Amino acid sequence: MTHLAIHLSGIHLKLASEAGEVNILNGIDLQVAVGETLGLVGPSGSGKSSLMMIMAGLERPSQGSAVVLGKKLGQMSEDALALFRRNHVGIVFQSFHLIPTMTALENVAIPLELAGKRGALKAAKELLERVGLASRLSHYPSQLSGGEQQRVALARAFAAKPGLLLADEPTGNLDQATGEGVIDLLFDLNRNSGATLVLITHDANLAGRCSRVARLKDGRLDGDVS
Ligand SMILES: Nc1ncnc2c1ncn2[C@@H]1O[C@H](COP(=O)(O)OP(=O)(O)OP(=O)(O)O)[C@@H](O)[C@H]1O
Ligand SMILES: [Mg+2]
Repeated sequence: MTHLAIHLSGIHLKLASEAGEVNILNGIDLQVAVGETLGLVGPSGSGKSSLMMIMAGLERPSQGSAVVLGKKLGQMSEDALALFRRNHVGIVFQSFHLIPTMTALENVAIPLELAGKRGALKAAKELLERVGLASRLSHYPSQLSGGEQQRVALARAFAAKPGLLLADEPTGNLDQATGEGVIDLLFDLNRNSGATLVLITHDANLAGRCSRVARLKDGRLDGDVS
């Protein structure tokens, strides 16, 4: 039983680079309630994407514990983490991570097909229509603009109706009107299915719509705003 979607305690992340070890996260304690919308803000290089990777179980912390939707990620195997993500966590990466050999439609349908859901292509088509890409279903990622790729990535993250959606700069490449459409879609998911949202953003408008804003600076949380 937990009312927390995310519970991070004492998270440190050190990564090796050519120039030696780099301290990327330096003791993060963060709790996000189920159904909450959290805006994660902070300067470039402050560790936002790294923190999202920890929440998704895609990066293991050097120290500290991450409990997500009641699961202790540190105790799970890579296979168990992959299955957990497929069933419960939607992720929109800053760099989209679309599969280059699949069309927009196939990219969105794939998580549903992997999860053994029926009607994957129909559901994927509806989601792409909602993000304004009805006329781009059969385009490959290289045939899409940056903002279009971003919308495909969003549709894919929504496809399995995840309990937790982690989105890294989901409106970073979109014009204002398209960005607002995407923001509405994100908050609809929160309202209609109670999904918890963590949105990394430089967009003050988007951060302002979240129920809480957390600010990262040099790998530390700089206190909560709002
Ligand atoms: N694999 C890696 N090895 C070493 N250092 C890394 C690695 N990945 C990221 N870093 C460093 O960690 C720091 C935090 O990176 P991160 O991508 O989390 O920042 P960010 O807050 O998401 O920035 P932005 O707003 O520019 O996306 C940066 O200084 C970056 O150079
Ligand atoms: Mg980033």
